Amino acid sequence: MKSSRGRDLKKISLIGAGNIGTILAYNLSRKHLGNILMVDIIEGLAEGKCLDLAQSFPVENINTTVEGSSDISKIEGSSVVIITAGIARKPGMSRDDLIETNLSIMKNIGNAIKKYASSAFVICVTNPLDAMVWSLKQISGLKSNMITGMAGILDSARFRFFLSQKLNISVENIQTLVLGGHGDTMVPLLDYTSVSGIPIKNLIDMKKIEKKDIDQIVSRTRNGGGEIVALMKNSSAFFSPACSAIEMLESYLLDQKKILPCSACLNGEYGVKDLFVGVPVIIGKNGVEEIIELKLSSESQKQFTKSVQSVSDLVKKCKKLLV
Ligand code: NAI
Ligand code: 2OP
Repeated sequence: MKSSRGRDLKKISLIGAGNIGTILAYNLSRKHLGNILMVDIIEGLAEGKCLDLAQSFPVENINTTVEGSSDISKIEGSSVVIITAGIARKPGMSRDDLIETNLSIMKNIGNAIKKYASSAFVICVTNPLDAMVWSLKQISGLKSNMITGMAGILDSARFRFFLSQKLNISVENIQTLVLGGHGDTMVPLLDYTSVSGIPIKNLIDMKKIEKKDIDQIVSRTRNGGGEIVALMKNSSAFFSPACSAIEMLESYLLDQKKILPCSACLNGEYGVKDLFVGVPVIIGKNGVEEIIELKLSSESQKQFTKSVQSVSDLVKKCKKLLV
């Protein structure tokens, strides 16, 4: 189908019509990137949200289609599938506490992707992220370049936001990368953090920021999701996770070839095999087109190794639950 702007419209499927799924549908409908299908296991939920969303289109002159369903077979023919189905954290829970429930949900979804959307580019958001995307790959049989997880963009955005507040500098000027697993062991890379090209270390020398402030920001970033859960109590973050997943989707659909920190299938890169871990990747029309291997400082390497170990422990649990 063509859009009113003459572009071929792809089918974008959102599995999960909860908090993140809802923001995804809303933002995507304003970006004219494709026709949207939203699926949720709760009868009527996705249908109702999509009907409401579609009724906003006349107001803003939007020419796109959204369809809600509880029938997952409708994902057939999707170019992209974003998965947010699953349970989210409650106060006191870690992402890892979600593993059993969310793994059984991934089994259903992975099998549906294998059957109906085996050529789609799949972005997983469901936690515990790196273990869920690993499991989805095993179940769906997708190639390594066609499945990835969203976390590093969100974690890096939090780090950028906190730094921008402390420095009183526009977030746009702050570049950084947060790698490793999406958990308390994630690795904000100070060596690759700069403000308009000025390395953060120089800003410490210039007395624009103190090392102890950066250490606090690193720790707040690692606990960024937990901080929001503790405030909201009954849900976890959803605006920033949705925007982060859309950046990945756009880079794929529009062949932007952005370098983005994403959970990608490592096959020897960074000395890691058969695990999904957050690393910088290039996303373009062929999915994850390249994994960028950065030289890490010995401190960052130590933290990265620890983070990989915690992902590996979770994957071991998934392997046991999958047999
Ligand atoms: P939510 O609870 O608002 O929505 C989840 C939806 O999934 C619910 O509507 C539920 O009915 C649906 N669902 C459950 N099983 C399903 C199935 N088999 N098929 C289709 N739909 C199904 O949760 P929210 O806030 O949208 O978060 C979703 C997930 O994303 C959670 O696991 C959360 O921990 C994770 N998350 C990940 C982040 C990341 O950086 N990777 C950031 C924030 C949240
Ligand atoms: C977050 O980082 C809970 O993973 C979720 O907000």
